[in-house]
Amino acid sequence: MSAKAAAPRAAAPASWTEQGISARLAELGEWFHNLNLGGIQTAPHHALGDYPSCKWRHFAHAVPSSLAGKSVLDIGCNGGFYALEMKRRGAERVLGIDEDERYLAQARFAAEVCGLDVEWRKLSVYDVAQLGERFDLVLFMGVLYHLRHPLLALDLLAEHVVKDQLLFQSMLRGSAERTVQAEDYPFEQRQQFDQPSWPRLHFVERRYAGDPTNWWIPNKACAEAMLRSAGFEILGNPEEEVYLCRLRREGEPVRSGVLQEPEAL
Ligand SMILES: C[S@@+](CC[C@H](N)C(=O)[O-])C[C@H]1O[C@@H](n2cnc3c(N)ncnc32)[C@H](O)[C@@H]1O
Repeated sequence: MSAKAAAPRAAAPASWTEQGISARLAELGEWFHNLNLGGIQTAPHHALGDYPSCKWRHFAHAVPSSLAGKSVLDIGCNGGFYALEMKRRGAERVLGIDEDERYLAQARFAAEVCGLDVEWRKLSVYDVAQLGERFDLVLFMGVLYHLRHPLLALDLLAEHVVKDQLLFQSMLRGSAERTVQAEDYPFEQRQQFDQPSWPRLHFVERRYAGDPTNWWIPNKACAEAMLRSAGFEILGNPEEEVYLCRLRREGEPVRSGVLQEPEAL
């Protein structure tokens, strides 16, 4: 991707007063993204702090400072934090999708107040084929563990919408160790399954953190293996839970352990 600086293409800035913004925020319900809209925070009491700014700070350097000429798809865009950041980096086109209309209304309002030209559309990750288009950069942040069919979603991203890079984040639980797996294991050999670092997808079945939308939470080795098996090569792991990947071209060999050599099992 190019590193040339570019100014974001701004829509006509809306003239919102602080009072007007506060009133609209109250109508839009509780926010998950804490954004600063005209000096007013949308989620000042977020349990995770100034979220997601506090997370973004740790991996913002992994995305080119200029996205001039690039198209970006933000899947599970929520209140629009990342989509807006991509537009601020000069992306030619940014599309945010989410299955929840309430969050999309928040994102639309945020873009309007910020004067940023971002498209928003109600669409599930399972329906991305409907877009009929591939994007230079796809963001798939904080959505995987909310899905009942997480591998299907990753397969669909590779098959239909990722042209080049994928920025991925998932909640991770269990061991953060990684192992080199053998090509195969004899049927009688079982001890590898008891290793904490064995790729594991925890089936929490809606019972985790008081959030009934949580289904599956991978450990680190599993998240990496899922990305690999869906056709992505991991380029970097700039934050504990964040991976920058590229789509493998047809016929390219699958490479594992690209970040650092893991312990052999
Ligand atoms: C934890 S939030 C993550 C928001 C944002 N991407 C981030 O990283 O801060 C999960 C978001 O995914 C959305 N979501 C959940 N299931 C989805 C699906 N099947 N398709 C699209 N979005 C989905 C939710 O509505 C919510 O906005």
